[in-house]
This record gives sequence, structure tokens and C-alpha cells, in this order.
Amino acid sequence: MSRMFVPGPVDVADEVLQAQAAPMLPHRSKEFEAIFRRASEKARGLFYTTYRVFLTASSGTGLQEAAIRNFVNKRVLSVVNGAFADRWHDVARSNGKEAEKLAFEWDTPASPDQVADALRKGGFEALTVVHNETSTGLQNPVREICEAVRAVAPDTLILVDAVSSLGGAKIEMDAWGIDMLLTSSQKCLALPPGLALGAVSDRAMEKASSVENRGWYFDLLRMEKHRLKDSSPATPVMPLVFALDFQLDRIFAEGLDNRFARHSAMAERVQEWADAHDLSMYAPEGYRSQTVTTIRNERGLNVSDLNAFLKQREMRIAGGYGPIKETTFRIAHMGEIQMTDIEKLLAAMDEYLKKS
Ligand SMILES: Cc1ncc(COP(=O)(O)O)c(C=O)c1O
Repeated sequence: MSRMFVPGPVDVADEVLQAQAAPMLPHRSKEFEAIFRRASEKARGLFYTTYRVFLTASSGTGLQEAAIRNFVNKRVLSVVNGAFADRWHDVARSNGKEAEKLAFEWDTPASPDQVADALRKGGFEALTVVHNETSTGLQNPVREICEAVRAVAPDTLILVDAVSSLGGAKIEMDAWGIDMLLTSSQKCLALPPGLALGAVSDRAMEKASSVENRGWYFDLLRMEKHRLKDSSPATPVMPLVFALDFQLDRIFAEGLDNRFARHSAMAERVQEWADAHDLSMYAPEGYRSQTVTTIRNERGLNVSDLNAFLKQREMRIAGGYGPIKETTFRIAHMGEIQMTDIEKLLAAMDEYLKKS
């Protein structure tokens, strides 16, 4: 199997790909509804929540939009220190909301104190924050941010994007007080792209009932009515629901804590390799992602040339993203990637560095 050390879409295990090939069923049949319910109920374990998990036929951005349309009438605070947080802010603006940006340098974690100061102005119905910035390899202190929000603006809903970390890092939705936590299938869950998962608290559902223009496709109140009947308003992405149902069993068989420990051990190993080659990490120590490492390209490596070399060995890494595209490169260690794969990659990178 080839190994892509890229932050999604990631490699999918053969048996998971096979699970998609089960025969289709009418989506309003008892047989499919049982699978749909089982998958969404099992998924709650990943989110550490007793609330509901919606499964939508979309990628993660669809749920970024759903969060805005369902929970914000007017004002939202967008915490921005990376490309995907910036996208969420843009989603809010594009939907006609007054989205105030609380910006940090991209290599700086969002500060809970500054979040609290911004919220003291009052009037923010929700706050958006990205847990794991896939562009920068920075993990924001979401738990501390939740505490800060609770202290100064307890009615403000906390909306968290964990597209590139849920299933690879521990995020305890209920214990931390998150109101919506969303992710996509093609990253740490190691599924093909096309399915998004979003867990939503009861108080957020209540808030949605006072929000107008929630739209149709992503109206969570409509989805909830159907969910309670083990169904969805529109046709679900059936092959991915089969695959999710199967993959969740594999994930729980590994054990969530073991899975998180595997991801953080791989992150540490990649950081150690970078240190040994006088390359520094983009994110500061203490805030580095467990699932993707962004490295400053201080040696001026030609990443396309490196990837051509790696592809001959059935591997590849990712270049930088957005404004740091040319100055960084990324090694993702999520999903099915094991430490032995990382060792193979780093050995190949050493071989490349020696020859160039
Ligand atoms: C942190 C983060 N948020 C949102 C997105 C957008 O997700 P999707 O491509 O599933 O719409 C990405 C995609 O890479 C991401 O990394």
C-alpha cells in the first residue's frame, strides 16, 4: 500500500474501502436506518459526547456553513490564526453575518485572555475556532478557550472545527463545553472524502429554533427530526456510512487512547527528525499538532523534487499551504499511518538529503 503523508485525503485501508462496496439499500428501509443509527450513535464516542452526531453528505466546509446558518442570527466572533479559520470567517461573511475577526499571527496560538477581552464587548452569539490548523500544524488551546468563554460570555456558543484532529487527538466535547464539534471523513478517520460529522449540544439546538434563514439542506432542526427516526432529510452518502460503521469498530478496537498516543508519538518523532536536521517547526512548542507537522523549509528544499523521489518509493509529503506555501512543507501522521511508516519516510528523506 502506498503511503501518503499528506493531511487528507489520506490512505484508506483495503477492508474499509471494501466496506463501501456493500449492496445499496433503499435509504428509507429499516435495514439502512439501523446502520445509520448505529454509525451515528457509535460516533459519539469519538466526540466524547452524549449529544447527537449528525452525518451529512458533504465535506467539512458544509458543516462550517451549517454552524453559521443555524446558530448565528447576526454576530459571530471568528478566531483566526490559519487558513481554515480564515475560511470559516469568510463563510460567515458570505452568509451575511457580522463576523468580527480576532486575528493572531499564524505561528501564535489563540490566546484565551484575548478571546475573553473580545467577548467582553458583548453581543456575540457564537465563537468559531479551529482546533488543529492544518496549514500551520498548530493546535489551539481549545479547552482553555472554552473556559475563558464560559467565564465572560456563558451564552456564547462555542463552535469548533476539528477537521484534521478528531479521531487523532482527544477533544472532549461535553467536558470542555463545546456546542458544535465538526469533522470530515478524509483525515484522521481514514475514510474516503464526502462525509462530514458534527456533534451538537442541546442548547445549540434550542438556539437554532430562534435563528431565521437556516436554509434547507443544512437546517439542523430538520435534520434532527429525521435523525430521531434514524434517517436524514435527503439521500445519505450510503457507501461512506457503511465504511464509517466499519471503521469505527476498527478505531475502537485499537482504543482511542492508544490511537491518540500513536499520533503523538509519530508527531514527536517527526519533530525530532526536523530538529536533528536544523529545521524548525512552524508552531511553537506546546502547541504542536499531533496529526500534521509543518516544518519551516530553512534548507530551501525543492519539495516537488523531493516528492518525485519519494513517489518512486510510493510515498509523498505535502507542500505548504496558502501564504506559507513556499516557505514550509508538511508531514502528516494521521489515520492509518504507523510509526514504521514514519521511519521509512524519514529514512528516504535522509537518503534524498544525502544525495542532493
Ligand atoms: C482544519 C480544516 N478545516 C476545514 C477544512 C475544510 O474541510 P473539507 O475539505 O472537508 O471541506 C480543512 C481541509 O483541509 C481543514 O484542514
